[in-house]
Amino acid sequence: MSLLGDEVFWEVEPTGPLHGDVRVAGSKNAVTKLMVAGLLGDSPSYILNAPMVTEVDITAGMLTSVGAGVGREGDTVVVDPSDICTGSVPVGYFRTNRIPILMMGPLLHRMGEVSVPLSGGDQIGGRPVDFHLEALRSFGAEVTVTDDAIHAKATRLQGTRVRLPFPSVGATETILLTAAVAEGRTVIENAAMEPEVVELALFLQRMGAGIEMRPDRRYVIEGTPKLSGARQELGGDRIEAFSYLVAGLASGGRVQVSGCSQDRLVTALSTLRRMGASFDITEDSVTVAPGELRSIAVGTSTHPGFMTDWGPPLVVLFTQVPGMSVLHETVFEDRLGYVEALDAMGAQVELYDQCLGGGPCRFHETDWRHSAVVRGRTQLRGGRLDMPDIRAGFAYILAAAVADGPSTIRGIHQLERGYDRVHEKFAELGLRIQEFGSAD
Ligand code: UD1
Repeated sequence: MSLLGDEVFWEVEPTGPLHGDVRVAGSKNAVTKLMVAGLLGDSPSYILNAPMVTEVDITAGMLTSVGAGVGREGDTVVVDPSDICTGSVPVGYFRTNRIPILMMGPLLHRMGEVSVPLSGGDQIGGRPVDFHLEALRSFGAEVTVTDDAIHAKATRLQGTRVRLPFPSVGATETILLTAAVAEGRTVIENAAMEPEVVELALFLQRMGAGIEMRPDRRYVIEGTPKLSGARQELGGDRIEAFSYLVAGLASGGRVQVSGCSQDRLVTALSTLRRMGASFDITEDSVTVAPGELRSIAVGTSTHPGFMTDWGPPLVVLFTQVPGMSVLHETVFEDRLGYVEALDAMGAQVELYDQCLGGGPCRFHETDWRHSAVVRGRTQLRGGRLDMPDIRAGFAYILAAAVADGPSTIRGIHQLERGYDRVHEKFAELGLRIQEFGSAD
């Protein structure tokens, strides 16, 4: 038996600049939400261009636990809501991901009573669900929370007006999913406008919901008691696209990313351009070429700002660029813990509780160390890494790819929750990854 026991782990051997083409899959952050929306129809829904990520399988398990049928034919996921028979999602899904709470509105509509395990998701901050629960209460649901579950009852869901304290992606989705079938009109103010949230709104519109998007972060939804199944092709995953563009830049290679339209990457590309990167952009692809890069300061933000999930690969890129770069994380208070492992590989990253590189954010004057100062360029050493979450997981592979020797990486299941065929895609770029510990 190896020192790492029976767990699957990867040995990554740096092979120099990564070159080649990567076709990104449909968005991981949209597919699971459209699957939940499928519960609201009176006929099956079809979600095309679905990524091969285990979050889809986990969500399928949650939907089948309430009686829905879920199948996959190639890149199409089919959700058949005809036999939903309970509003209880098993507690076995306690802290698995954020999907059970999104199922509450649709299940309340169908069953009048729901019970879902408390949600999880990547450990990148407190990740409370207070906005979701307040919104459900304002639709008229009676909500109680126990140590491991949330229970709710409602004889009817009544349209409402909600002003979110922060434009939360998940809370906006909970409200859209509930408002679509509530009685009367719902207005969401200070709502999230991320492309994946808009995809959900478009899907609900295809199902027959009355949804308007207003320019000032507002959605106005006219509830419709009966929705039909819909069919929609997912947009490309902008986090996956950015991650592979950075893989090219950090390793000094030429990488072409296709399958994600430019409009989903505007801020990602303008940020990399500030560092000196240049691109060749077509209707379906973006190519980065090697070149001299410089340090910059970046603050994460809600859409259309620089997305928080783009942060971890960017920090690895910062280690490969001369000068002092700054990442100010303003969406999740506790997202930068992964830099400790990078420092152990020889990176020079310091964390600060001050808001550096931009104005004060919500975490101003708190103890959260949410600004990272990265001194580059450093030659990283191969290391032993354990992936704490999906995005940090990808960053660790990147760090291993630019290190001076092999690295051993555990926690691969984290990466596979959110990145489509990642082993295959890195192999196509020339990175040598050997997998150990799997059954085959
Ligand atoms: C989603 C994405 C995640 C992305 C994030 C921000 C999925 C599966 N995940 O996460 O990849 O990084 O959007 O773009 O789509 N908050 C509260 N109370 C709540 C809800 C949120 O205080 O009830 C706070 C959070 O703690 C955080 C901020 O709002 O500080 C943003 O969170 P949110 O936008 O809800 O992120 P998720 O939907 O969890």
